[in-house]
Amino acid sequence: MLISLIIYNSTVQINHMSINTISELVKEISSSKKEEIENLINNLAIPVSEFEKIGTWDENHYTRNCIARTEDYELLLLCWQAGQETPIHCHNDQDCWVFLIEGSIIENQYKNNEVEIPVLTVSELMVEKGTYFINDDIGLHSLHNSKNKRAMSLHVYVNPIEECSYYSKKLKEYKTKNLSYDTPAIF
Ligand SMILES: [Fe+2]
Repeated sequence: MLISLIIYNSTVQINHMSINTISELVKEISSSKKEEIENLINNLAIPVSEFEKIGTWDENHYTRNCIARTEDYELLLLCWQAGQETPIHCHNDQDCWVFLIEGSIIENQYKNNEVEIPVLTVSELMVEKGTYFINDDIGLHSLHNSKNKRAMSLHVYVNPIEECSYYSKKLKEYKTKNLSYDTPAIF
């Protein structure tokens, strides 16, 4: 009886918790289990202006700005100029949550088969502010800021991803690349 009461109370607390600053988010993720990440991100109430302070922009590619990284997870802010996109890529057997902060990003998902030309399975997800999830069991994906204005998205990877394979449209084959940051961790 006592145990069930404790579990109930803890669930209620998590459901109603709102996260108002980036440092609070880092603290919460650092002490959370994988199963709690989605709930955590759903409770984000951080003003867009807080992310604008740490975002960086590049005319040639979207930027990967590291907010925090441990052995267990990495938290990144991706900043997209109009038209910028990722190649079709995998997530190296890790789980990825995306929270769209500002703007609109189109996500296309593909069958996870790295020996053939990618086969589109679902198109145009992630167009509205909110939380999205992807891993290799769901498939490969690509992200694209198709609107004529900037976009920002928050990404949590559990565990961090060192490298991933992607489909090169030019070479018409899958390649592997090491992932890097445009700006280093700030926490
Ligand atoms: Fe991705």
